[in-house]
Amino acid sequence: MYSKELLSIKKSNRFRTRDVFDKNLIDLASNDYLGQSTNKDIFQKAYERVLEEQYLAPKASMLVNGYNQIHKDFEDKLCAINGFEAAVTVGSGFLANISMIEALCRKNDTLFIDEEYHASGILATKLLRDEQVVVFNHNDYKDLERKISDDTRKGRKIIAIEGVYSMGGDLAPIEIFDIATKYEALLIVDEAHSSGVIGENLLGIFDYYDIKPAYNHIKMGTLGKAYGSYGAYILASSEIIDFLTNRAKPIIYSTAPSLFDIALGLESLKYIVENKQTLKHNIQEHLKIIKEILDIESQSLIIPIDFGDNKKVKEIQAMLQEKGFLVGAIRQPTVKSAIIRLIAKIDINKEDLIEVCKILKELKC
Ligand SMILES: Cc1ncc(COP(=O)(O)O)c(C=O)c1O
Repeated sequence: MYSKELLSIKKSNRFRTRDVFDKNLIDLASNDYLGQSTNKDIFQKAYERVLEEQYLAPKASMLVNGYNQIHKDFEDKLCAINGFEAAVTVGSGFLANISMIEALCRKNDTLFIDEEYHASGILATKLLRDEQVVVFNHNDYKDLERKISDDTRKGRKIIAIEGVYSMGGDLAPIEIFDIATKYEALLIVDEAHSSGVIGENLLGIFDYYDIKPAYNHIKMGTLGKAYGSYGAYILASSEIIDFLTNRAKPIIYSTAPSLFDIALGLESLKYIVENKQTLKHNIQEHLKIIKEILDIESQSLIIPIDFGDNKKVKEIQAMLQEKGFLVGAIRQPTVKSAIIRLIAKIDINKEDLIEVCKILKELKC
């Protein structure tokens, strides 16, 4: 029934498959930035924490009786550490983006969204009316300001950006935070790739720019990346969290996040806070290698190397795999121009990172 569509996907080298990769491959492709997915100590602690509960599964939506002390402990810790008034855990970052964009953008409000915002946010804009959505050029704060100041609609202004962009690895500019303040706009920041990786306390972009959370700030973070678990959270004022709890459909009509995943997120958060100096040191060491060999100055651990050809990046990926390395081959339409996406995970030893960087440098020349 879909053979024609599949054929056309294949013809344009856009056909995707799910593969179970050889576990001996050196992982330079996943978002496990800190190597937390192999941290058995936090896994054990989370497991023991869940075993203290009478019920080991959430069993229901948070608004019925799926909300557990484990969710609350995690939310309280997130608020205390990040300086936000309130928090809510959500099943995944994908659902968190759907929740925020669909629920917070009311009829007369206008959403200004970066063109490179994650697919989940872009999907959520399809639930809004066309006139409610304005897309601005990636990280172009002047374009944003032009569009925001031209807006004549009478509702709220809402801006949606990422802390670190998932494909380019670049950071949102601080000017966007200033624009949000100037125009009293709500600012949604997706910190999927920034929390755990940037900032004085490895908390993400607010921390990186030393911005104190205000009433108009919303921070979303995921647990499936640097935190080595699964799930997500939203941090904001109590009023916004109350509103989301009352209006966001993925929060109301979905089973509460898994107790184990949230317990693991909490243990991971504690670990990151306690070990931040070592983790930061290791991040800097890896970024130094990237700079020295590939001449790429990055603040994040996402290193995109542009080859501009869907077929070529798949070939490079296959060749590196033969040598024992797994890197991402990201193709159109996910990115405008095909890239090898190298994740400079800090659990990878330096010699391996140096070797793969040298190979990629050769290929670029
Ligand atoms: C920027 C960004 N936001 C949101 C998500 C979705 O998060 P999750 O994997 O927890 O659904 C991702 C995941 O790839 C992402 O890269």
